[in-house]
Amino acid sequence: MKAKLQMIKENALSAIHADNADLEQIRIQYLGKKGELTGVLRGMGALTPEERPIIGQLANEVREEIEKALGAKAEAEKNAMLEKRLVEEKIDVTLPSVAAKMGKLHPLTQVQRTIEDIFIGMGFSIAEGPEVEYDYYNFQALNIPENHPARDTQDTFYITENILLRSQTSSVQARVMEQQKPPIRIISPGRVYRSDAVDATHSPLFHQVEGLVVDKGITMGDLKGMLETFAKTLFGNDTLLRFRPHHFPFTEPSAEVDVSCFVCGGKGCRVCKNEGWIEILGAGMVHPFVLENCGIDPKVYSGFAFGMGVERIAMKYYGIDDMRHLYENDVRFLKQF
Ligand code: PHE
Repeated sequence: MKAKLQMIKENALSAIHADNADLEQIRIQYLGKKGELTGVLRGMGALTPEERPIIGQLANEVREEIEKALGAKAEAEKNAMLEKRLVEEKIDVTLPSVAAKMGKLHPLTQVQRTIEDIFIGMGFSIAEGPEVEYDYYNFQALNIPENHPARDTQDTFYITENILLRSQTSSVQARVMEQQKPPIRIISPGRVYRSDAVDATHSPLFHQVEGLVVDKGITMGDLKGMLETFAKTLFGNDTLLRFRPHHFPFTEPSAEVDVSCFVCGGKGCRVCKNEGWIEILGAGMVHPFVLENCGIDPKVYSGFAFGMGVERIAMKYYGIDDMRHLYENDVRFLKQF
């Protein structure tokens, strides 16, 4: 029996160590319920009482050895598999990577932030107002009563009789003056809406930056000096300003303000359409009626206001000839700025 056990052990071990050994099959063949080793143990009844413990112990040793060999082979196979995967799936981290594409701010946002920075540098703070606005703040408080002809040039989208999409950021002037008492020094950037057909210079949605200063003794000279500082910071130190008389219902006197062309310096070129000047904003002294409408005494206080179109400035600044490019969001266009 000893020899039988010895043979079982040798056969099992060499089967285990063979290449491509089916370990589960081997386990069943030798150690399973109907396996070879089990068969030997079943025949132990025929042994003498002296032989039985010796053969029993030997059988146990053979079982342990086979189990150990099966475990070691399984472990070795697992390690070999892992090793193979590590080699096959190796990533060369020293290869140059595909550069991630960086996003950037839209040119309109860049220009708006540049404008904001300049005014913040002059002590202004930023006020915001709603895009869905009462007729009162967009028109009536600004000295534009119902049926006033100025409403024609700023036709907009009415949500109800009294609620509309604001046609100008000047609506924020009235809101701020109702809430704050002078000294007031704010700018208000934001979207405005008009019933305009889309073309190279018009869009039913565009952006403005409004400015408002109210205090004792504010004059048109303050407006001019402040705008000059603004224009020189944005367009360069040689920039000149030109005030042309104009009419806005909420400022008196009113002006349209041009800057000397920052491309040709005033000689005339494509950007300024040969005029030497580029219109950038509307401005004027806050009308006494508007101050009164907002509870500020025009005998004590005076102020100036201005409003500029961000698209217009961005287009001139970057030499963009069609406003539609700014909204189509073609990355080939946008990544130039
Ligand atoms: N709100 C005017 C416009 O949209 C611009 C403006 C603002 C004019 C403030 C004077 C003062 O045309």
